[in-house]
Amino acid sequence: MKSFENADKKEIEKFDNVSQIWWDLKGEMGTLHVINPLRTHFIMEKLPPNPKILDVGCGGGILSEALTKAGAQVTGLDLSEASIEVAKKHAQSQNLQIDYRYESVQDVADKHAGTFDAVACMEMLEHVPEPGKVIAACAKALKPGGQAFFSTINRTPKAFLFAIIGGEYILRLLPRGTHTYSKLIRPAELKAWNKEVGLQFERLASLMYNPFTRKFKVAHNKEDVNYMAHFSRA
Ligand SMILES: C[S@@+](CC[C@H](N)C(=O)[O-])C[C@H]1O[C@@H](n2cnc3c(N)ncnc32)[C@H](O)[C@@H]1O
Repeated sequence: MKSFENADKKEIEKFDNVSQIWWDLKGEMGTLHVINPLRTHFIMEKLPPNPKILDVGCGGGILSEALTKAGAQVTGLDLSEASIEVAKKHAQSQNLQIDYRYESVQDVADKHAGTFDAVACMEMLEHVPEPGKVIAACAKALKPGGQAFFSTINRTPKAFLFAIIGGEYILRLLPRGTHTYSKLIRPAELKAWNKEVGLQFERLASLMYNPFTRKFKVAHNKEDVNYMAHFSRA
């Protein structure tokens, strides 16, 4: 029995419905492909060689594949079964060994507590009912001294304007209806949830979009709209 305890079935359904476009570089998931090298670097630059990484909410495997190509041994999990199937097929077609699972982070953390060098949970927390519980499970999955990486969208008027109105409705960088404003997460909230489960804040960076060049760049120590944060387990 899969644990959907901390999953919003409507959110999962949204991703089941778009599962066939994960690898369409020009489609509505294209933005994830564009930011992928930046976030892969943000994660890998702080890890030892060949780290064991758990990719939580891996979708069609965009980040899992990049981490694998960068030398990591990756386990990817997602509760969208259609997305996991797409991820498995795509990895096979690329000859990449990735352990994909249609399982919740709570279940994987219970079975493999304390075994991962790093956990990456990108663009997923804003889609779950209780993000704090996902963070607690990520902490449980980490080895002592392990590193956790989260990315999400800030809950500010600027984020509403740029990420939801601009990103989903004007520039069509993401499928419409991908984000709900009230579920976006402020950096202070992310830090508090991590602190509660013993994860120490290390650093934060934002991905800044330039609509003229259509490029993103990383701004370190800046809390903007799209941000990534790094924590560590003592
Ligand atoms: C915006 S996508 C991000 C995919 C991937 N992390 C990336 O950044 O390329 C969010 C993913 O989280 C998954 N998801 C949402 N709620 C989840 C949950 N409770 N457990 C596992 N995966 C979940 C969705 O199915 C979807 O694949």
